[in-house]
This record gives sequence, structure tokens and C-alpha cells, in this order.
Amino acid sequence: MLRPTVSAQMAATVPSALGFVVLAMMAPACAQAWAAPQYSGSAACRSCHPNVVMDFYKNPHAKQMQTDAAPPEAGCESCHGPASEHIAAKGDKSRITAFSRLKSEQVVANCLRCHSESLGRMQVRRSSHTLAQVACNQCHSIHKPKTPKSLLNREQRDLCYGCHSNVRAQFALPVRHRVNEGVIQCTDCHNPHGSPASVWTTGQRPRMVEPALGNEAPCLKCHVDKRGPFAFEHSAVRIDGCSSCHAPHGSANARLLRRPAVFTLCLECHTGAGGFGRQGDGIQRTPASHNMASPRFRNCTTCHVRIHGSNADQRFLR
Ligand code: HEC
Ligand code: HEC
Ligand code: HEC
Ligand code: HEC
Ligand code: HEC
Ligand code: HEC
Ligand code: HEC
Ligand code: HEC
Ligand code: HEC
Ligand code: HEC
Repeated sequence: MLRPTVSAQMAATVPSALGFVVLAMMAPACAQAWAAPQYSGSAACRSCHPNVVMDFYKNPHAKQMQTDAAPPEAGCESCHGPASEHIAAKGDKSRITAFSRLKSEQVVANCLRCHSESLGRMQVRRSSHTLAQVACNQCHSIHKPKTPKSLLNREQRDLCYGCHSNVRAQFALPVRHRVNEGVIQCTDCHNPHGSPASVWTTGQRPRMVEPALGNEAPCLKCHVDKRGPFAFEHSAVRIDGCSSCHAPHGSANARLLRRPAVFTLCLECHTGAGGFGRQGDGIQRTPASHNMASPRFRNCTTCHVRIHGSNADQRFLR
């Protein structure tokens, strides 16, 4: 699945002066002309970086060292580049791929040399994170991970809240998905590596909401009863999407609704007035029988009980 190839990308991940010589090294004709850094093998790091080397056996990246693979396919230098010059200079960090000195796009290129073949990271080069210079090593730590799985540099929730403090506030609202309690995770709905181009229901909305199978809302992975297909669909559910009525993170209102009173939510669309409402296309208004002055009619879902769609009634009454 992971098939590293030495490429120009590799060179791009080495500080520019070195990248130049790495390229030269790959062209045998020029090789002698330069004091090109050579691969020294992981054993060469032990004397000066004993702790890093000793801890490495637990790392999933150590697996490759147990095979016959040599750098650049395996070992310390598969990420840090050829180290002979670094060692000769007694640890000059400008002569090795030091992540602390890389630009975010260089980090991304370095890691994707091996990690580009997963469907889940198909969009990573144009994800909102990558475009905002948030690179792999701001979420992952190779040597000091807090989670053995996925090598995250903090527990997922704290990692995401660290940069998205407004979202932390949303998950503290009275009605919420229980992310803080560990019942559900950000990545049940989001793909931090980016999601496919927007579809109908996500066109105007924030990206990186991970569609489930068939491009449907991730919500349906868990709330399967809302999937249908229904003989009578409420087009709001399929076309506008769950978040037109629900706040996905948290809300002060029952059932995560975007409005405190159900009827105000319904009347945003059911105005009947062309050119008004969120749709602006004259979605049916409430019939004359509905006396909005009467409290009886205000709680629409006491009668329209199958609000997500019905197999029995066009008006979702049963
Ligand atoms: C999969 C890529 C990868 C491999 C393989 C790897 N490193 Fe690193 N290394 C990194 C990254 C990324 C950082 C930046 C800090 C971090 O993410 O933990 C780093 C940081 C370092 C540092 C800086 C000190 C620190 O902890 O921040 C040293 C020294 C180092 N690596 C040495 C090594 C040695 C020695 C090996 C082999 C045993 C090795 N690395 C293997 C990616 C790698
Ligand atoms: C002769 C001792 C020595 C050897 C051998 C050595 N290093 Fe280093 N290395 C150092 C020193 C000292 C530093 C710290 C330089 C500094 O902080 O200015 C360093 C820094 C680094 C950094 C940069 C950390 C950062 O700031 O991001 C990386 C990466 C690294 N070494 C990787 C390796 C790898 C991989 C090997 C083996 C192939 C290796 N080193 C072998 C001495 C050595
Ligand atoms: C904004 C934070 C973030 C960034 C940036 C990020 N990741 Fe991740 N990554 C995660 C989280 C969170 C998980 C765990 C997902 C889960 O548990 O479902 C993960 C999982 C992974 C995994 C293991 C699971 C899998 O999908 O195979 C790999 C490999 C990985 N990331 C590689 C990368 C690479 C390579 C980059 C940079 C191109 C990157 N990540 C950038 C947050 C991030
Ligand atoms: C030379 C190839 C190579 C490079 C470069 C590389 N990786 Fe990996 N990575 C691997 C292999 C192989 C595994 C182990 C996969 C497995 O266990 O199936 C792995 C595993 C991982 C995992 C753990 C996946 C899990 O399921 O828990 C993460 C996270 C990860 N790499 C992130 C990174 C990041 C971030 C970088 C860049 C700093 C990077 N890798 C660079 C080859 C590489
Ligand atoms: C290092 C900081 C950082 C971390 C960590 C981080 N993000 Fe982000 N995130 C950003 C930035 C910067 C943006 C883009 C600017 C913006 O829209 O706020 C962003 C955007 C987003 C967006 C909106 C995308 C859009 O197009 O509107 C989502 C969703 C998101 N992040 C989810 C996550 C999740 C889930 C995690 C944890 C796995 C996470 N982020 C971790 C910095 C971060
Ligand atoms: C139940 C699914 C779900 C979970 C869990 C979830 N999100 Fe979201 N998130 C969404 C949806 C859907 C949107 C798009 C909202 C819209 O369509 O208006 C969104 C939007 C966002 C945005 C962009 C809009 C904004 O409010 O800034 C960020 C950032 C974000 N989520 C981060 C996170 C983080 C961080 C976590 C975990 C702590 C998380 N989300 C957990 C579904 C979820
Ligand atoms: C990983 C599974 C999962 C996903 C994905 C998910 N939910 Fe939920 N949802 C739950 C669970 C579990 C509850 C039960 C309430 C709790 O945890 O306290 C719930 C509760 C709800 C509730 C009812 C809240 C209440 O007060 O009764 C609504 C509304 C809801 N989810 C909407 C959504 C929407 C919209 C999405 C997509 C943006 C979504 N869910 C995605 C698991 C999920
Ligand atoms: C047209 C507005 C609207 C849309 C769109 C919508 N819902 Fe709802 N949803 C409601 C209302 C109103 C309630 C409260 C019903 C009640 O009070 O009986 C509700 C209740 C819920 C509940 C909790 C009670 C139950 O029936 O299980 C869940 C879970 C839920 N919705 C999930 C979803 C999901 C998932 C989607 C997207 C597939 C979605 N909703 C789309 C209006 C909507
Ligand atoms: C995002 C816009 C939107 C929201 C919010 C919304 N609807 Fe709808 N609704 C529609 C659309 C579009 C249709 C299908 C077109 C039509 O029938 O006018 C529809 C159809 C209906 C129908 C069936 C009409 C018929 O005779 O076929 C009923 C009943 C209904 N909605 C009730 C409600 C109730 C009750 C609420 C509040 C819980 C609500 N709607 C919220 C957009 C919305
Ligand atoms: C007391 C029960 C009840 C309540 C409460 C109720 N409805 Fe209805 N609704 C009905 C019945 C019965 C019908 C179909 C017969 C009719 O036209 O009166 C209907 C029909 C509709 C239709 C379809 C109109 C058409 O011509 O096909 C819409 C749209 C609608 N209601 C929206 C709402 C909205 C929005 C609310 C909340 C503000 C609401 N209803 C509250 C019972 C109710």
C-alpha cells in the first residue's frame, strides 16, 4: 500500500542547499562533482540521539527497518534525508531535514511521499488545513505522540479544540453531541485531511465534513432511520441537509434545533412568498386551517410527527 519513491519531492523536503545536491546525487554522472551527503544508516544516529533511537522500536515507522529496506525507504533517514554531512559537522541542523525548519508545504510533501495512497487523504493537498498552512506535524508527532494509534500529538479532542476554541464553546451548550464525554469524535463527522468537493447540501457550507457512502451526510452513519428512502420525502432533509434545521455541534434548544421554537424554524421556509424565505421560491405556506395565533398550531411536530419523511402521508402526519 505504501510504496515510497525517491523523487524530486524528496529533494524538495531537504533544505534547499542540500536538495540541490541530492538531485545531483541522483544523477550518477554528476555525483563525484559534489560532496553529496550519503545515507549513513540508523545505527549512526544512536551515539548522539540515544533516546530517540531507543524509543523508536515502538513506532509504526520502525516496521520498515525490520525488512530489508534501506534508506530512503526505511529508517531515520527516510524522513530526515541523508545524514553524512550532518554527522561530519557534529550535528549541524542545517545539514539535515529538520522539521522545525521546514515550511508547511515541505512537510506535506515529505510525508506524502509514502502516505499519498490512502483514499482518506485523497484531498489533502487542497484541504482547508493544508491551504491554511496547517501541516501534518502540527497534529501528528513522530517521536512524542500522545496516542499510540495515529500518532497524534494530543488526544484528538484537545488537539482540535487547541485551534478551534469556538467549537469547544459549542460542545459546552446544554444540548450537544457528547464529544467531551467520549461518545463521539470530531472525526466521526470531519476528515481533517480534507473532503471531496462540495455537493448540493454542502455547497455554501464549511468543508471537511466527511461524506459517508454515496456522498450522503455523515449523520446517517449513526441516525440510520433518517436515511429513507421515504415514499414522501421532506425535501428540506435531502436537499438542504440536516444542518439547515440542526446545529451539528451543540445548541441551547431541544433536539439540537437551530431555533428555540419549532414553528419559527418551519416558517423560515414555509412562507409561501416567492422571493422571500431562505429558498426564495415560494415553498408551500401553512394552510388557512393553521391559525398561528393559536398556541395549538405552533408546535408543528406534534402533528407533523414524521418530519424527516414518511411512508404513509404526504404531509408527514403519520
Ligand atoms: C516518519 C518520519 C520520521 C522518521 C522515520 C524519523 N523521524 Fe525524527 N522527526 C520527524 C519529525 C516529523 C520530527 C519533528 C518532531 C516530531 O514530530 O516529533 C522529528 C524530530 C527529530 C529530532 C528532533 C528532536 C525532537 O524530538 O524533536 C531528532 C533528533 C530526530 N527526529 C531524530 C530521528 C532519528 C534518530 C530517527 C531514527 C531512529 C528518526 N528521527 C526517525 C520525523 C521522523
Ligand atoms: C555527532 C553527533 C550526531 C550524530 C551522529 C547525529 N546527530 Fe543529529 N544532531 C546532533 C546535534 C548536536 C543536534 C542539535 C543541533 C542544534 O540543536 O543546533 C542534532 C540535530 C538533529 C536534528 C534536528 C532537530 C531539530 O531541531 O529539528 C535532526 C532531525 C537530527 N539531528 C537527525 C539525526 C539523524 C537522523 C541522525 C542519524 C542518521 C543523526 N542526527 C546523527 C548531533 C548528531
Ligand atoms: C488537523 C490535524 C491533522 C493534520 C493537519 C493531519 N492529520 Fe493525519 N490524522 C489526524 C487525526 C485526528 C487522525 C486520526 C483519525 C481517526 O482516528 O479516525 C489522523 C490519522 C492519520 C493517519 C492514520 C490513519 C489513516 O488515515 O491512515 C495517517 C497515516 C495520517 N493521519 C497521516 C497524515 C499526513 C501524511 C498528513 C499531512 C499530509 C496529516 N496526517 C495531516 C489529524 C491530522
Ligand atoms: C518512508 C516512508 C514513510 C514516510 C516518509 C512517512 N511515513 Fe508514516 N508510515 C509509513 C509506514 C510504512 C507506516 C506503517 C503503516 C502500517 O503500520 O501499516 C506509517 C505509519 C504512520 C502513521 C500511523 C498510522 C496508524 O495507523 O496509526 C502515521 C500517523 C504516520 N505514518 C504519519 C506520518 C507523518 C506525519 C509523516 C511525515 C513526517 C510520515 N508518516 C512519513 C511510512 C512512511
Ligand atoms: C494547528 C491548528 C489547527 C488544528 C490542530 C486543527 N485545525 Fe481545523 N482549522 C485550522 C485552520 C487555520 C483552519 C482554516 C481557517 C478557518 O476556517 O478557521 C481550519 C479549518 C477547519 C474546518 C473548517 C473547514 C472549512 O473549510 O470551513 C474544520 C471542519 C476543521 N478545521 C476541523 C478540525 C478538526 C476536526 C481538527 C482536529 C482533528 C482540527 N480542525 C485541528 C487550524 C487547525
Ligand atoms: C455530529 C457531527 C459533527 C461532529 C461530532 C463535529 N462536527 Fe464540526 N461540523 C459538523 C458539520 C455538519 C459542520 C458544518 C456546519 C454547517 O453545515 O453549517 C461542522 C462545522 C465545523 C467547523 C466550521 C464551522 C465553525 O463553526 O467554525 C469547524 C471548525 C468544526 N466543525 C470543528 C469541529 C471540531 C473541532 C469537532 C470536535 C471537537 C467537531 N467539529 C465535531 C459536524 C460535526
Ligand atoms: C458517530 C455517531 C453519530 C453521528 C455521526 C451523528 N450523531 Fe447525532 N447523535 C448520536 C448519539 C449517540 C446521540 C444521542 C445523544 C447523546 O449522545 O447524548 C445523537 C443525538 C442527536 C440528536 C438529538 C439530540 C437530542 O437532544 O435528542 C440530533 C438532532 C442529532 N444527533 C443530529 C445529528 C446530525 C445533524 C448529525 C450530522 C451532522 C449527527 N447527528 C451525526 C450519534 C451520532
Ligand atoms: C426541516 C427541518 C429538519 C431537517 C432538515 C432535519 N431535521 Fe431532524 N428534527 C427536526 C425537528 C423539528 C425535530 C424535533 C422533532 C420533535 O420534536 O418531535 C428533529 C429531531 C431529530 C432527532 C431526534 C429525534 C428523533 O427523531 O430521533 C434526530 C436524531 C434528528 N432530528 C436527526 C436528523 C438528521 C440526521 C437529519 C439529516 C438527515 C435531520 N434530522 C434533518 C427537524 C429537521
Ligand atoms: C429549509 C427549508 C424548509 C424548512 C426549514 C422546513 N421545510 Fe417543510 N418543506 C420544504 C420543501 C422545499 C418542501 C417541498 C415543497 C413544498 O411542498 O412546498 C416541504 C414540504 C413540507 C410539507 C409537505 C407539503 C405537501 O403538501 O407536500 C410539510 C407538511 C412540511 N414541509 C412541514 C414542515 C414543518 C412542520 C417544518 C418545521 C419543522 C418544515 N416543514 C421546515 C422546505 C422546508
Ligand atoms: C394540530 C395539528 C397540526 C399542527 C400543530 C400543524 N399542522 Fe400543518 N397540517 C395539519 C394537517 C391536518 C394538514 C393537512 C390538512 C390541512 O390542509 O389542514 C396540514 C398541512 C400542512 C402543510 C401542507 C399544506 C398543503 O396545502 O398541502 C404544511 C406546509 C403545514 N401543514 C405546515 C405546518 C407548519 C409549518 C406548522 C407549524 C407552524 C404546522 N403545519 C402545524 C396539521 C397540523
